[in-house]
Amino acid sequence: MKKPSPRALAQLGVTAGVIASMALVTGTVPRTEAAAGSGAGLPAASLNGGATYVGEAVCIACHKPQGDQFMHTAHAAAFRLNPRNDAQKLSCEACHGPGSNHLKDPSSPANRGALIGFTREWGTPVAQQNAMCLSCHQGGQHMFWSGSAHAMANLACSDCHNPMAKISATGLLKKPTINETCYTCHQQQRAEFAKRSHMPLPEGKMSCVDCHSPHGSTTRAAIKADTVNELCYNCHAEKRGPFLWEHAPVRDNCLNCHSPHGSNHDKLLTVARPFSCQECHGNTNHQTTLFNAGQMVGGGAAINSRVIGRSCQNCHSQIHGSNHPAGARFQR
Ligand code: HEC
Ligand code: HEC
Ligand code: HEC
Ligand code: HEC
Ligand code: HEC
Ligand code: HEC
Ligand code: HEC
Ligand code: HEC
Ligand code: HEC
Ligand code: HEC
Repeated sequence: MKKPSPRALAQLGVTAGVIASMALVTGTVPRTEAAAGSGAGLPAASLNGGATYVGEAVCIACHKPQGDQFMHTAHAAAFRLNPRNDAQKLSCEACHGPGSNHLKDPSSPANRGALIGFTREWGTPVAQQNAMCLSCHQGGQHMFWSGSAHAMANLACSDCHNPMAKISATGLLKKPTINETCYTCHQQQRAEFAKRSHMPLPEGKMSCVDCHSPHGSTTRAAIKADTVNELCYNCHAEKRGPFLWEHAPVRDNCLNCHSPHGSNHDKLLTVARPFSCQECHGNTNHQTTLFNAGQMVGGGAAINSRVIGRSCQNCHSQIHGSNHPAGARFQR
């Protein structure tokens, strides 16, 4: 049998984290050791200065609003109704760590090391915050987290997630929708999706995670496929071919002509036609001079039939490839 690739393993959810959490299920490994063993890097003894677990009832005595909001989340449902291992039974302390030292002096800034906090103000290092979450969430796409652009930029899980309240329908996000969560930092992409021609994302037909994995992937820009073209074929299967006559730049990369998010030219084209074609075909048999804007509609006497309407595609209509025996020039 061929050795399965890390990617295939990831699809099966088989990672070190899964193995570690299996150990948790059997109850033979104390959680902090399992966390360290799965790469979380927390020395068992030093979690919150060697504090001990006090139980969620104690926490809620002082943090009632948080306790009430938390009640409606996926974690509360899993941890309280159907805990699958000792770690999940810890409830609040599964994420914030053992609380006994926090109780000694909860409001003293000097005592913040006694608890893992997930707000920027609290000051727990991001790596330590993320290690808590990753001690349970290492399967699937999460195995790419450590090399991802988001991890490199020192993002915390809690920059996108808020497990303390049910704000989004799924995914425990900080904002009601995925796109809004992403737009908090990606203003440029928000502008791209507002352009005249755009993927139907603002219309609610898709979200950023149809194309990207926010937790990283093996591909540039964390796309959810091995290549840009494979990503596009997921939804535009008819562009996959095979074609009798292939157009080289289409096979090479859809982004040779299209922008993935939005564009002010129709059909998401990066450049208006005919200039888009002329970037590569400056000198063809039927026309050696470059077309210019003066020959387009409104250009008066200079108007040229090769530039109006669908421009070059008035004749070369099968630009993505042709299956017609006489389609070498993509005219049919
Ligand atoms: C005796 C009351 C009391 C108890 C019991 C208590 N806390 Fe706190 N906790 C506080 C106070 C007061 C603060 C505010 C500290 C501040 O803002 O500087 C606080 C702050 C926090 C924070 C804030 C972190 C942040 O990012 O701002 C977290 C998380 C927290 N507590 C979790 C817990 C957990 C988990 C437990 C149970 C193990 C617990 N607390 C038990 C009083 C308590
Ligand atoms: C799944 C992990 C997780 C669990 C379980 C959890 N928390 Fe939190 N908690 C977080 C994260 C992440 C934040 C930061 C949220 C944000 O960005 O505002 C947070 C923030 C807080 C804060 C400070 C900010 C706020 O919302 O007021 C308090 C207090 C707190 N948690 C208490 C609790 C208590 C009490 C429980 C149990 C009833 C609990 N947490 C369970 C992850 C968790
Ligand atoms: C003790 C283990 C544990 C820890 C620690 C933990 N989680 Fe979870 N998480 C779970 C379980 C169990 C579920 C329930 C869904 C499931 O069955 O996988 C879950 C679900 C989720 C979901 C999906 C919710 C949904 O609506 O589908 C998100 C997002 C999530 N966790 C993020 C976090 C973040 C962020 C942290 C750290 C602040 C964290 N988790 C810490 C065990 C954990
Ligand atoms: C850049 C934003 C972002 C960051 C940072 C982020 N996530 Fe997520 N996460 C998402 C989005 C978006 C989803 C999909 C939510 C949905 O489908 O509703 C998601 C889904 C999840 C889920 C549920 C589905 C699954 O893959 O199992 C878990 C668990 C989760 N994230 C954990 C984490 C953990 C742990 C971290 C930190 C190591 C983290 N996330 C960091 C955006 C983020
Ligand atoms: C807290 C801020 C923040 C949030 C929220 C956020 N990002 Fe990012 N994102 C960054 C930073 C910082 C970078 C790295 C620098 C850059 O390329 O701008 C980045 C990079 C990226 C990249 C490029 C990745 C690469 O490998 O080059 C993609 C794609 C991306 N983010 C998608 C998303 C998606 C999808 C969401 C929502 C689920 C999201 N981001 C939410 C801050 C954020
Ligand atoms: C239809 C698929 C698709 C959707 C939906 C999508 N992206 Fe992208 N995104 C891509 C592709 C493809 C690239 C470019 C990859 C490359 O250059 O190799 C990209 C690139 C990026 C980059 C890297 C910088 C750049 O612009 O090249 C960021 C950041 C990004 N996307 C964020 C987002 C955010 C945020 C959303 C949701 C609001 C989103 N994307 C939705 C396909 C998509
Ligand atoms: C998650 C599914 C999905 C993925 C992935 C996807 N698309 Fe689309 N695309 C759509 C949908 C839906 C439409 C709108 C179709 C409609 O309205 O008839 C669309 C429309 C388009 C349009 C026409 C836009 C217009 O203004 O008429 C182009 C061009 C396009 N996609 C190119 C791409 C390219 C290039 C990629 C890869 C980077 C890609 N698509 C990836 C779903 C997807
Ligand atoms: C050589 C430039 C070029 C490349 C490369 C290219 N396209 Fe296009 N694409 C166009 C042009 C020009 C149009 C407008 C077609 C029209 O109006 O007849 C278009 C239109 C589209 C449309 C909307 C209309 C339709 O035919 O469904 C989709 C979807 C699309 N392209 C997807 C893709 C995908 C997916 C790839 C990569 C496999 C790709 N394109 C590569 C030039 C290109
Ligand atoms: C990124 C560069 C690029 C772009 C943009 C591009 N092409 Fe091409 N095109 C090529 C290459 C490379 C070939 C293959 C040339 C060869 O085999 O000699 C080709 C082949 C062709 C052919 C067949 C030529 C022959 O000799 O068999 C036609 C017709 C054509 N392209 C039309 C167009 C049209 C119309 C557009 C605009 C919608 C366009 N091309 C955009 C690179 C490009
Ligand atoms: C009125 C119809 C028509 C229009 C409009 C048109 N072409 Fe053509 N084109 C043809 C025909 C017919 C051929 C085949 C000539 C041959 O086989 O010798 C051709 C051949 C080509 C070739 C093949 C190689 C060559 O050098 O002859 C390319 C490349 C090409 N056209 C590009 C373009 C571009 C770029 C545009 C837009 C600026 C365009 N065409 C507009 C009819 C058209």
